Amino acid sequence: MSKVFVFDHPLIQHKLTYIRSVETGTKEFRELVDEVATLMAFEITRDMPLVETEVETPVTVTKSKVLAGKKMGIVPILRAGIGMVDGILKLIPAAKVGHIGLYRDPQTLQPVEYYVKLPADVEERDFIVVDPMLATGGSAIEAINSLKKRGATSIKFMCLIAAPEGVELLQQAHPDVDVYIAALDEKLNDHGYIVPGLGDAGDRLFGTK
Ligand code: PRP
Ligand code: URA
Repeated sequence: MSKVFVFDHPLIQHKLTYIRSVETGTKEFRELVDEVATLMAFEITRDMPLVETEVETPVTVTKSKVLAGKKMGIVPILRAGIGMVDGILKLIPAAKVGHIGLYRDPQTLQPVEYYVKLPADVEERDFIVVDPMLATGGSAIEAINSLKKRGATSIKFMCLIAAPEGVELLQQAHPDVDVYIAALDEKLNDHGYIVPGLGDAGDRLFGTK
């Protein structure tokens, strides 16, 4: 079974409170999502492998460490996942960025795929799939299906807010994919929205309705 990590860093929790607030406008919402994505990227990369190398400082030659693992790929689920990409790239600037476009059918709540564009060397990369919201879990499961179908073997899923129902389904569907979240909320409401949540992430990020 996959692991679930809830990031309880005070800065993440503080910023998340303002992301949730109905008083927070589009500009500030966007900035806060970007900042939290950077903080989460710092935590999610803790297990990156290192290798020892030699470096000459102005004083002496010494042993020091550099990253040694596979190349990285970031895959935002469109639309709202886009809001987390730049924040992650601040820490992992060489990562390639794929896109998977999905929307939730408002009646059935089932994800509908409309766009997929991934780096050419999918098999050789460690992927982080990002989306602010994990609600029923349908979109995350479908995006990861899509990525695996094209050859990805190493995937993490990162979101801001998750519902317990979504986490459970995602773990069942993809037991090899660890889940990283800033907050595990209470439940889903009858419309498939996370309670208390933050509302519609895409609309709040892009100022649409
Ligand atoms: C939202 C959100 C997730 C999805 C989560 O996207 O950004 O992708 O819903 O819900 P689920 O876990 O029940 O699948 P939405 O479908 O509203 O599309 P958008 O990002 O284009 O607004
Ligand atoms: N998608 C959102 O944007 N918000 C929710 O609460 C659930 C799905």
